[in-house]
Amino acid sequence: MNLSIVILAAGQGTRMKSQLPKVLHPLAGRPMVKYVLEVATQLEPTGLALVVGYGAQQVRRALGEGILYAEQLEQLGTGHAVLQTRELLAGQAETVLVLYGDTPFITSQTLEAMLAHHTQCEAAITLLTFRPDDPTGYGRILRDETGRVTGIVEHKEATPEQREIREVNSGILCFRDEWLWPHLEKLQPKHGEYYLTDLVEMAVAEGEPVAAQAADAVEVMGLDDRVKLAKAEAFMRRRINEGWMLAGVTLLDPASTYIDASVEIGQDTVIYPNTHLRGATAIGRNCRIGPNTIICDSTVGNGCVIEASVIEEAVLEDDVDVGPFAHLRRGAHLARGVHIGNFGEIKNSYLGPGTKMGHFSYLGDATLGANVNVGAGTITCNYDGERKHPTVVEDDVFIGSDTMLVAPVKVGRGAKTGAGAVVTRDVPPGQVVYGVPARAKQDREREKTNE
Ligand code: UD1
Repeated sequence: MNLSIVILAAGQGTRMKSQLPKVLHPLAGRPMVKYVLEVATQLEPTGLALVVGYGAQQVRRALGEGILYAEQLEQLGTGHAVLQTRELLAGQAETVLVLYGDTPFITSQTLEAMLAHHTQCEAAITLLTFRPDDPTGYGRILRDETGRVTGIVEHKEATPEQREIREVNSGILCFRDEWLWPHLEKLQPKHGEYYLTDLVEMAVAEGEPVAAQAADAVEVMGLDDRVKLAKAEAFMRRRINEGWMLAGVTLLDPASTYIDASVEIGQDTVIYPNTHLRGATAIGRNCRIGPNTIICDSTVGNGCVIEASVIEEAVLEDDVDVGPFAHLRRGAHLARGVHIGNFGEIKNSYLGPGTKMGHFSYLGDATLGANVNVGAGTITCNYDGERKHPTVVEDDVFIGSDTMLVAPVKVGRGAKTGAGAVVTRDVPPGQVVYGVPARAKQDREREKTNE
């Protein structure tokens, strides 16, 4: 079926009490409106427009320019909001589906069933309705004695008897395109707002069929305050965690495991309690992650072990082990079999295969070859107060404990530094240097004779 989709996201979300537009509040690490956009895209619409208003620039910045935006300068109601998309969408498809940007649990299956019912009934409007525990605030569905929908009355205008009605409007509706646009213009304001829901009464008055489809209350839950947001977060996380467990990942304590929607995890990986996997993170197979670990925007290969550590924008190849208490920062790249022990920090550095850094060290802007031993307390002095400088350590180097590598500096293949060395100039391959400043034995003796 050819379809246009409108997503309403112009409201401020007053009850969030936030500077951030409601639809950008994250759910499992992703702005809630992204879930709606994803489901909308699965329906393969011919056109999709997002109505923005409050915080429009912020929303556009967060979602990018790959979407059609319609700006609603004043929030004059849902009818007025849909009208803003007329130029973008009218006449392009048979059906127009209206979604809300703050109902992230809606599924494509429910929408497909609703659209199929709409087509079958040849309806002008089809409503997605549900029965919440507490209907306060929702538009109530009015039906006649035969059960046919006759209108929607908003909570504000409903009589005490109408307020007893349990069936309510979820806000998700679809329309026959050619019927919708001319009728939208005919809406009259109530309390300064143009109600999209008033179209139902118009259609009924014209003898047009109006259909309704029931939905699950969770799927149409709107997240308009932070209590609902927290409930939704717990629900979403449970759904994500169960998905990974069913896909072959062991979570020792799902309740204290926080996995963003965007994360990937390989089979037979075991995740220990209090682990947070965030953003664009991919974890390989057969890893052991946690407890007490945060991994953000990073790639971790197969067979890695990460314990009580923080890892951000880093790449770990296969069989790397890290921690406890390590901090890998932006641009850390650990090749196969690297070992990082406790209290290590690595930033913008490559460590070649088999390299080991066991105890409290800092590597910044460094390139280390294969099988380097980084002794306890080694520091790359990469910052001179104004600029950052690189350090290069070639294959098979032994860096003695407490060595200061004063960058820019290079330590050649197979060289060694003594404990406490302060390396201020390049060390040729195979040489042993020690002391402050670090020198080879023969250089030191020569310097002594010259004195
Ligand atoms: C609306 C429905 C109500 C339904 C309820 C479900 C109308 C008149 N009422 O209530 O029947 O039970 O949703 O939650 O349609 N929005 C705009 N521009 C506006 C106003 C709203 O984009 O000018 C957007 C909001 O960002 C939100 C959605 O439309 O995503 C619904 O607005 P909201 O104010 O929450 O709904 P109500 O009008 O109270």
